[in-house]
Amino acid sequence: MANFSIRLQNCVVLVAAMPMTIERDLHMATGNGETSYTKNSRIQEKVMFQIKPVLEEATRAAYSALLPRTMVVADLGCSSGPNTLRFVSEVIGIIARHCKEHDRRHDYPQLQFFLNDLPGNDFNNLFLLIQQFNKSMARNHKGEAAEALPPCYISGLSGSFYTRIFPSESVHLFHSLFSVHWHSQASEQLKDTKNKCLDIYITKNMPPSMVKLFQQQFEKDFSLFLKLRYEELVSGGQMVLTFIGRKHEDVFTREPNHLHGLLAQSLKSLVDEGLVEKEKLESFYLPFYSPSVGEVEAILKQVGLFNMNHVKVFEINWDPYDDSESDDVHNSIGSGENVAKCLRAVMESLVASQFGEHILDKLFKEFAHCIAEHLENEKTKHVVLVLSIEKAIIHV
Ligand SMILES: C[S@@+](CC[C@H](N)C(=O)[O-])C[C@H]1O[C@@H](n2cnc3c(N)ncnc32)[C@H](O)[C@@H]1O
Repeated sequence: MANFSIRLQNCVVLVAAMPMTIERDLHMATGNGETSYTKNSRIQEKVMFQIKPVLEEATRAAYSALLPRTMVVADLGCSSGPNTLRFVSEVIGIIARHCKEHDRRHDYPQLQFFLNDLPGNDFNNLFLLIQQFNKSMARNHKGEAAEALPPCYISGLSGSFYTRIFPSESVHLFHSLFSVHWHSQASEQLKDTKNKCLDIYITKNMPPSMVKLFQQQFEKDFSLFLKLRYEELVSGGQMVLTFIGRKHEDVFTREPNHLHGLLAQSLKSLVDEGLVEKEKLESFYLPFYSPSVGEVEAILKQVGLFNMNHVKVFEINWDPYDDSESDDVHNSIGSGENVAKCLRAVMESLVASQFGEHILDKLFKEFAHCIAEHLENEKTKHVVLVLSIEKAIIHV
C-alpha cells in the first residue's frame, strides 16, 4: 500500500494510505443525476412491493398489541431515494386502514418516523424529500376532516445501526431493506488474509479460511444488531428485515456471488490494461455477506431474544426493468447496462475510495459488457430474504 508523509512542524510522520472504513466510504451515489441512487433503485422498489404484506402484518401487530398514543417507527439504512418516503407512506396507510377497520378513526396515534443511515448518506437530499412529502400530504388532504390520516412527524437520524441509536424500549417498529447484509466495519483480518487473491467476494477458489472470515463477521454483526434492537424495542415491538441472501445453504453457490465475480473480472481487466494497480485489487473486498435462511435462523436461535413470525425467500431478476417471469433475456446489452447502473449506484463510493473516481466510467462499462455476456447464456436473479420477528418476552 502506498505511503505518504505529513509534515507536522519539524517532524515527518509516515502515514499509510487510509484503509477502507464503512462509516466514511459507504454511501449510495448522491444527488438526482443519471448515476444517482435516486435514479437507480428500482430493484429495491420492486422488493418493497413484494414485502408489503409482511410489513402490513408487522405494523398492525405492533400497533394493536399496545395502542400507543405515539407510535415510533424507524427505517434503518434508509438512503435518500424514492423508496425512503415510500416506506413512510406505506406505514401511514396501514395504520389509517387499521384504525378505520377498528372504529378508531377519531383516535389515531401520532406517527413518529426516524430515517436512519450512516453519516455519509445524502441527508441534504433526504431533508428536501421530507419537506416535499409533508407539503404534498398537506396539499392532497387539504379540506379533509382531521381523521383522514394519522398525523406524522419525520426526522433524519445519522449513525450506524451497529450502535445504540434509540433510548431503551422506545421503538414500536423497525424496518430495514437491503442494509443489514453490510458489515459493521472493514475487517483488517479479511484484507490481510486476501494476500494475492484478486477475488472481491466469496468464490469457489477462495481459501476456506477467508470464507470463514466473511461468515464470522456477519455472525458477529447480526448478533450485535439483534441485541441492540432488542434493547430499543418496546415489549411487543416488531422488526421487518429484508436483505440479499442465498437460496442454498452451500456458501459457494453462484447466485449472489456471480454478480460480484463479474465485477472482480472487470477490475482484473483494468489491472491488465494498467489502469488499476494489482496491489490495490489484492487488498480490496466487498464488506458484506449474503446469508442463507439456515444461517439467519441459527443466529436468531443463538441470540434468543426474538420470536420468528415469518421468513421467506424470493427471487428477482437482475435487470430492474425486466418484470417478466420468463427465462429469456430479450436484450442482453440493455439488461447488462441496467444491472451495471444499479450496482454502480450502490458500490461506486467504495470502489472510488480504493481505486479513485477516474476508473468509474470505464469500470462500469466493462462490467455492463461482462453482465451482458453472462445474460446471453443464462438469466440470473437476486435472492432476497425477508424476515419478520417480534421481541420475545424473557422470563427471568
Ligand atoms: C442499498 S441501500 C438501501 C436503501 C433503502 N433502504 C432502499 O430500499 O432503497 C443500503 C443503505 O444501508 C446503509 N447502511 C449500511 N450500513 C449501515 C449502518 N451500519 N448503519 C446505517 N446505515 C447503513 C447504506 O448507507 C445505504 O444507504
